[in-house]
Amino acid sequence: MILGIETSCDETAAALVDAQGNVRASVVATQAELHTQYGGVVPEIASRRHLELIAPVVREALAAAGATLDDVRAVAVTQGPGLIGALLVGVAAAKALAWARRLPLIPVDHLLGHVASLYLQPTAAEPPFLCLLASGGHTMLIDVQEQSRHVLLGQTLDDAAGEAFDKGARLLGLGYPGGAAIDRLAREGDPLAYSFPVARVPGLDFSFSGLKTSLLYAVRDLPADELARRRADLAASYQRAIVRALVERLQVAAERTGAARVAIVGGVAANSELRAALPADALLAPLVLCTDNAAMIASAARFLPALAYPEYLSLDAYASA
Ligand SMILES: Nc1ncnc2c1ncn2[C@@H]1O[C@H](COP(=O)(O)OP(=O)(O)OP(=O)(O)O)[C@@H](O)[C@H]1O
Ligand SMILES: [Mg+2]
Repeated sequence: MILGIETSCDETAAALVDAQGNVRASVVATQAELHTQYGGVVPEIASRRHLELIAPVVREALAAAGATLDDVRAVAVTQGPGLIGALLVGVAAAKALAWARRLPLIPVDHLLGHVASLYLQPTAAEPPFLCLLASGGHTMLIDVQEQSRHVLLGQTLDDAAGEAFDKGARLLGLGYPGGAAIDRLAREGDPLAYSFPVARVPGLDFSFSGLKTSLLYAVRDLPADELARRRADLAASYQRAIVRALVERLQVAAERTGAARVAIVGGVAANSELRAALPADALLAPLVLCTDNAAMIASAARFLPALAYPEYLSLDAYASA
């Protein structure tokens, strides 16, 4: 089994995945509540919390799998991108575990980790496919040719789709992180009540900053009681604009590349309207694997080269892609 470790943002996670891609255990300790009062993740607080949680989370994952470190053949860890202090906690923990057992270590790019959430059982998918990665920090169209061969076709020029959800949620007074809250509230609203613009930038890139500004203007012009009455309509219309932007781009990219199948991964892939808007044969990351977890990191590691002891002792994390 591969032991995966993920600490790139505000989830402390460990998982055990076997060679066939079966998830034997996946533990995610979310710090979301810790950061809610600040309206976003505070990097220093996240790092310190990772430090407290990493050992118990790894222990819990081993116990849940009925395994010990004797059953682990490699340690995989998120190397970046993410919050540097948070990443360093995971990298140091992974090094220590691998070193103690003289195991190989496999550094994993967090974004390829999201893509690899599709390679896990019981619904493991095989490339090629065209993948939309939509998360809190990234929005990318990736031509996945093989598990270890990817071509970036387009990405956001400003905000990520998840960031647009989170900033929208904040404007609507729904708290942080807001994607799931908008998703829930949108079900009670009219998606045609407001017409929010969908930016069409050249090529296969995305832009969401204008959308956020138009929600800001719509909210600002409403008296408080009126805002309360229209909140669901605003959420539904705002979500519709984000989903349309994502789906349209995905369709254009599929036509251009001749991709037979499309896939979605990352936190925004949990969005119910987005999932419903895709063709029936689209590959959808399982709901529990959309937001950050370590099973996807161990999954990606199955297709990546391992560093032997002691090469990895000098391994560093990286903050941006
Ligand atoms: N049901 C949902 N609808 C829309 N957005 C959602 C939903 N559930 C979660 N999200 C969004 O997903 C994002 C979190 O996803 P994820 O954990 O993949 O991002 P991240 O790890 O912070 O960023 P990155 O992977 O780019 O480093 C948040 O922006 C959150 O609002
Ligand atoms: Mg992520």
